[in-house]
Amino acid sequence: MCGIVGYIGSREAWPIVLNGLKRLEYRGYDSAGIAIINSAGFSVHKKAGKVACLEAETADKDKSGHVAIGHTRWATHGAPSDANSHPHSSNDNRLHIIHNGIIENYLILKEELLARGHTFKSETDTEVLIHLIEEIQNIEQTDLLEAVRLALNTVIGAYAIVILDRENPNQLVAARKGSPMVIGVGQDEYFIASDATPIIEYTKNVVYLQDNEIALIKHNQLLIKKLNNVVQTPLIQELELKLESLEKGGFEHFMMKEIFEQPRSIRDCMRGRIFPLEGKVELGGIKQYTDKLKNAERIIIIACGTSWHAGLTGEYLIEEYGRVKVEVEYASEFRYRNPIISDKDVVIAVSQSGETADTMAAIEIAKERGATILGICNVVGASIPRITDAGVYTHAGPEIGVASTKAFTAQVTVLTLIALFIAQHKKTLPPAKLIDLLTGLDAIPDKIQTLLQDNELIEQIASKIKNATNCLFLGRGFGFPIALEGALKLKEISYIHAEGYPAAEMKHGPIALIDEQMPVIFIATKNSSYEKVISNIQEVKARKGIVIAIVTQGDTKVKNMADHCIEIPDADEAFLPLLATIPLQLLAYHIAVKRGCNVDQPRNLAKSVTVE
Ligand code: F6R
Repeated sequence: MCGIVGYIGSREAWPIVLNGLKRLEYRGYDSAGIAIINSAGFSVHKKAGKVACLEAETADKDKSGHVAIGHTRWATHGAPSDANSHPHSSNDNRLHIIHNGIIENYLILKEELLARGHTFKSETDTEVLIHLIEEIQNIEQTDLLEAVRLALNTVIGAYAIVILDRENPNQLVAARKGSPMVIGVGQDEYFIASDATPIIEYTKNVVYLQDNEIALIKHNQLLIKKLNNVVQTPLIQELELKLESLEKGGFEHFMMKEIFEQPRSIRDCMRGRIFPLEGKVELGGIKQYTDKLKNAERIIIIACGTSWHAGLTGEYLIEEYGRVKVEVEYASEFRYRNPIISDKDVVIAVSQSGETADTMAAIEIAKERGATILGICNVVGASIPRITDAGVYTHAGPEIGVASTKAFTAQVTVLTLIALFIAQHKKTLPPAKLIDLLTGLDAIPDKIQTLLQDNELIEQIASKIKNATNCLFLGRGFGFPIALEGALKLKEISYIHAEGYPAAEMKHGPIALIDEQMPVIFIATKNSSYEKVISNIQEVKARKGIVIAIVTQGDTKVKNMADHCIEIPDADEAFLPLLATIPLQLLAYHIAVKRGCNVDQPRNLAKSVTVE
């Protein structure tokens, strides 16, 4: 969701901010804008649509200047329009703000400001905030930093903001609570952004602004305070991010690149953590919580979307191998339903971005009620790793495609490791079986490499079903979470309506949908539910549905029934989620491309969902 970028220093600010906004496009947005202090004084450009529209519109404008702020907006309060785009300005047009987050009490504040004579040009909560800051500055006769501090003490909600004062052009003021913000530290220059992607080409040194912190940023000064006015010492950290990981590397889309990266990303995720010959898993990040995990009365996995699907595979894996009771919860439901939690529970929060608002709120609730909180996160330094007791990074590398692919398989890998880690310490598996499973897991990246060779076949199948209006995805056991994930992937990037179900549930309703137009994608590999899935395939064929089956290499039985088959290498059924996901990702990708969809930035979606 919304991306923010700012620059102050001696370079030309416009290209830095514009390119920064392009780097943040993956977060999802529907309008863009930049405010710059330039030779002519000051200008603001904002436009509904993509950053490219803003770029085209400003092609012949004076864009010179050394201080600028820019924003990509994902609409919450008010439609995507030029007027609602950021930056927003104060009543006197002196202060300009960009904001990621939501000011929850904006309506009350707006009514009060209207009563005192303010007029507003947009429907946004953000414009209310900058008017409030302006008013406080005028009444208190203070500097901008203090006015922002006082204003933020009166607002409820989440924010990462940057403010530019055209009368005082040698400074920016930034603050955060609940929305991410990174400050890049250069030589007499500072870069500000929602994440490190716009910063990495200029500096590796960054300060992660913490919640309830406010910063005064000049080209040669960074002053950070808490909202209670206590000055903080900025902690400069070095980024591990590599610029190449933000490029497409010869692929047409980031999603395709990220699908093909999975042998590497899963290998990176396991590196230093599995020792197959010794039957050992080491998870340094959560080592100190080994006893908590193995003695937990219950493990509650909280997540949203694709990460929730990873959580569901975690339930199957942990219960099967670690023999601990697991519940998987949508974070958005968990946070509002007064859940029963005790200090004997371990909560595992799963999040690619580490910034998902619902997951963060669910963590806070579980924490208040005494549970131990572990995190599984991909983005190093994100908010979730900072509010959990301990955790495991997935090390999948930056995921730019909005639809999660390599981050999902890395989450499943970590959950597999956690299941085997518990089994090892709880001794719920014979040592020989543990060695067997770890050896099998170690071989998964190579098996994925092999099955990626099916890409062309999958593209051909995609051509055959690209005009479908509905699709069903069915699986049993370990195949069920994958059916859910396959359906989500297809619907989010191709806009085809798709549903995932446990295969046996089909006859309790969805079977009514099946006719000769309906593609039904089965996870039909040779595992404990193979024969049962075959019966379900027959039920679909009897009603003339189009069957596409993911089968184990060498299968003949399903091949005789299905319209199209995609083979995956044989492996223990525990690894089905890792293998069977890949062809479903490719299928969704090719269908979406053939339908002319923007696979990397599907409509209405955001990469990190920082509002509830
Ligand atoms: C779908 C997708 C989303 C995310 C969800 C949670 O491809 O990526 O469903 O999984 O928004 O996001 P994170 O994992 O960042 O908490």
